[in-house]
Amino acid sequence: MTQTFTNFDHQAPEITTRFCRFHIEQLIDNSITDFDLYVDVKSHLILYSGKGYKWTKSELDGLIRHGRNFFWMRSEDALKASLYEKMTRLPDVSKTLRPEDRMQTIQDIGATFTRYLYEGEITESVVRKAEQLAGNIVDCIEEDRGCIRSITGLAHHDLYTYLHSVRVSAYATAIAAQMGLSSRDDLKNIALGALFHDVGKSAVPLTIINKNGPLLEHEWKMMRSHPTEGLKKINDTVLHHVCREIVIHHHERLNGSGYPDSLTKDSLLQEVQIATLADIYDALTSSRSYQNKRTRFEALDFIKNKLLQTDVSVDAYKALIECLSQKAS
Ligand SMILES: [Fe+2]
Ligand SMILES: [Fe+2]
Repeated sequence: MTQTFTNFDHQAPEITTRFCRFHIEQLIDNSITDFDLYVDVKSHLILYSGKGYKWTKSELDGLIRHGRNFFWMRSEDALKASLYEKMTRLPDVSKTLRPEDRMQTIQDIGATFTRYLYEGEITESVVRKAEQLAGNIVDCIEEDRGCIRSITGLAHHDLYTYLHSVRVSAYATAIAAQMGLSSRDDLKNIALGALFHDVGKSAVPLTIINKNGPLLEHEWKMMRSHPTEGLKKINDTVLHHVCREIVIHHHERLNGSGYPDSLTKDSLLQEVQIATLADIYDALTSSRSYQNKRTRFEALDFIKNKLLQTDVSVDAYKALIECLSQKAS
């Protein structure tokens, strides 16, 4: 159905805050846009393509031939548009860069994606994009497990949670591959589960997440609700059982001291134990508001002395060390 906006009659669209330009070159053939695009016809905006529209090369060529250089989109869709652009570039990234360099790009794209995942609704199209990102992470790991050494705990405060999810995903996938999980589907489910693992933090106030100092009891209570909130958020998706287990149980500890269910080693999937170690390792090696970043060696030492066997799996820990000591191929 055609949708028309007539609010531009006396005002140039460029200076409105409701819409902004989206250039045709940003569209890629065989891709799907999950936001509306409009054309301006005599100062009116008319809907050209709705959510889920699939672009073909011939249509894009035709638009350019007819002199159309850009569409209009709603300003509130800017994040979706930026994600679209980055995600559609992902397959090319895989082909052109070495795994170590590629992992850097995946971190960047992945951070935009996970921000979207945290702030928006988890629709089928979001899950498809997450699968694509997980597939890229698995590709890198399959080519060179040691590529996780190129990951640095960037200190970008606003993006911390988003970058953290991507890094945990890469670490967990590498540990799993090193432990002998060789099926691509198994690796992809771990990568996916780790991407989603903290998604429930969107239900926790930012003042608590970024608090500079120890949390008060009621704040801890809210913080500890994020696995349950995360599971609620992904409940209606097609995500695999392993992904759900990672989301709900990544804060359990082998000795039963974790949350939300105080599970012990025998009740925790190996994939969950792997994700837990990856989560802890990244928290230790990356910069956060309430602690200083540790070096790789300090973090491994801390885990060995304080957490091994009681909190985290020895096998997963050994596998992480093996991955980190691999030479680039
Ligand atoms: Fe968490
Ligand atoms: Fe986490």
